[in-house]
Amino acid sequence: MGGEGGDRAGGPGAGRTARRDGAVRAAVEQGLLGPGSPVVGLLDVIGIRESAAELKAAFDAVTAPGTPVLHAFAVKATPLVPVLRLLHEEGIGAEVASPGELALARAAGVPPARTVLDSPAKTPAELREALALGIAVNVDNPQELHRVDGLARSAAGLSGPPGSARAGGIPSPIGIRVNPQVGAGSIEALSTATATSKFGVALRDEGAREWVVRAYLDRPWLTRLHTHTGSQGVPLSLMARGVAETYALAEEINRRAGRHQVDTVDIGGGLPVNFASEATAPTYAQYARMLAGTVPGLFDGRYGLVTEFGRSLLAKHGTVVARVEYTKSAGGRPVAVTHAGVQVVTRTVYAPQSWPLRIAAHDGGGRPKRGPAVVQDVAGPACFAGDLLARGRELPLLEQGDHVAALDTGAYCFAHHYAYNSLVRPGVHGFAPDGAGGVAFAEVRRAQTVEEVVAEAGGARADALTRGHLP
Ligand SMILES: Cc1ncc(COP(=O)(O)O)c(C=O)c1O
Repeated sequence: MGGEGGDRAGGPGAGRTARRDGAVRAAVEQGLLGPGSPVVGLLDVIGIRESAAELKAAFDAVTAPGTPVLHAFAVKATPLVPVLRLLHEEGIGAEVASPGELALARAAGVPPARTVLDSPAKTPAELREALALGIAVNVDNPQELHRVDGLARSAAGLSGPPGSARAGGIPSPIGIRVNPQVGAGSIEALSTATATSKFGVALRDEGAREWVVRAYLDRPWLTRLHTHTGSQGVPLSLMARGVAETYALAEEINRRAGRHQVDTVDIGGGLPVNFASEATAPTYAQYARMLAGTVPGLFDGRYGLVTEFGRSLLAKHGTVVARVEYTKSAGGRPVAVTHAGVQVVTRTVYAPQSWPLRIAAHDGGGRPKRGPAVVQDVAGPACFAGDLLARGRELPLLEQGDHVAALDTGAYCFAHHYAYNSLVRPGVHGFAPDGAGGVAFAEVRRAQTVEEVVAEAGGARADALTRGHLP
């Protein structure tokens, strides 16, 4: 997409649509999709690179020259090592929220200095590892701060390189996550800034603001402040208010400390994704301009910035493609039974009102399918009635052997397998032009085998509950 949310020519997202259609067809022609592998995930490498570039340009345009800005991709959105490596190559770091995510970021080669650890439930071992590596940590609550205090006291063996700002002290940049309690968006489960959200220190609770300020005044090594005021469904204006409140708190801490103690504000991620059409909306540029308009002081060069976008970097660049195994009719409604359902688009299946997806119909050869629109259901393979990709959707009538593409599924979907019915994890392939007018694929994640399903389900311990292991 170029400029404000669209491709350079042919309307919003036209380049993306053409690349994706070409990839679906090539995936069928090259045998990535077929009777033996009836569902795959595809990732548009050009699209991912473009989004990374747009993110950097958007904040470059509103920050004072020389402002340190770390864009840390929220690994939870697409926890695939080659994706993290691609983003790292594009200058994007990693926000991690579990030992697994940290291991993925390290396997991708993301350096500790470009990694940020969040999560509301960090164990002592995780904190110790992060501090030993020099990874930035956002502390979630007073009990966690107490743990970090303990590590800070024994930080002699952990301090940064001689001569560095952190030599002789705690080796990681540390901040506290605050919840400015600015309110909810349209999806309750993703609203992190409600009055009772489980995340961060609830700033408007009695005594909480003063507690946070004191925590900083007592600990010169607390140099960052973090907020993530929402994800999909939260309006930009509400996110900007959350950032504004966090900035005001940073200013208050620095005023009372009499020095520029908080030097970096981590504004989290949360830019919503448009799942209704090809257009990228809102854009990073719109959000960055809104932030700069609402909180100008945050962008005047006195503060470094960290961002933690996830969904907005990847969602529109991923597609699940599945074969139509059977078609039938029930109660007068045509139903296409496909191989993509709850295992790959879990949120859409369980909360269809909150997570509707666009579905594109392709024929048996992978070409976009034409024909009059017919109201039909697109079902997944799992054995419960609600396993539907789309209900009552108008599409060219799907036939046996056709394909369906579930669009905008590059984040929080096919990389997050849900093992219902012991359905195997599908393979994931990145695609890009091959330089000769065709499409080249690279395997990102191999499809799981049935043997692996058995092994992971205790296959080597079949006797565990029946012979001798228990009284
Ligand atoms: C702390 C934190 N940062 C960043 C993100 C990424 O949010 P999004 O994918 O909506 O950009 C999340 C999502 O849950 C989060 O909890």
